[in-house]
Amino acid sequence: MLSVVCPGSFDPVTNGHVDIIERASKLADQVFVGVMVNPNKSGLFEVDTRIDLLAQSLDHLDNITIETFSGLLVDYCQARGARAIVKGLRAVGDFDYELQMAQMNHRLTEVDTLFVATNPLYSFLSSSLIKEVVAFGGDVEGLVPAPVLAPLVAALTPPEPLP
Ligand code: PNS
Repeated sequence: MLSVVCPGSFDPVTNGHVDIIERASKLADQVFVGVMVNPNKSGLFEVDTRIDLLAQSLDHLDNITIETFSGLLVDYCQARGARAIVKGLRAVGDFDYELQMAQMNHRLTEVDTLFVATNPLYSFLSSSLIKEVVAFGGDVEGLVPAPVLAPLVAALTPPEPLP
């Protein structure tokens, strides 16, 4: 039985994340989607909301578990008996840092990192860019899962000024 971890901040989940998790769920028996909790960095969405949006977006997959982790990713992998981390590689820009982390993670606990080539439809996507586009009024339909759209727009739309 092969268990893997798909880690990330998922603030919020994008269609690029969903594509990688779907493909991991076909390769592995069990996929743990680990939402990193970083006490030093606040995101747009609370971690509970990120998990809720992930759950709604991954409802069609039956071999995944969505949960939070803090501390080292390799410790989380060991705690879940996961032999590999699965990550998407969008372009060469991702490669240097991802390779560095993969090598460090392997050095720490011998966990392997499997890189999945991102679907070219989503290779320009990142959660940060999505938030920037929405904050300036751009349309991201088709780039994030449907359940994410309304909460994202609501979170980034400034309140109406009082009359
Ligand atoms: O979605 P992100 O923000 O690109 O995900 C980054 C993440 C969570 C995969 C990375 O920051 C991570 O693995 N954090 C856990 C802490 C850790 O293990 N650091 C050492 C990495 S070699």
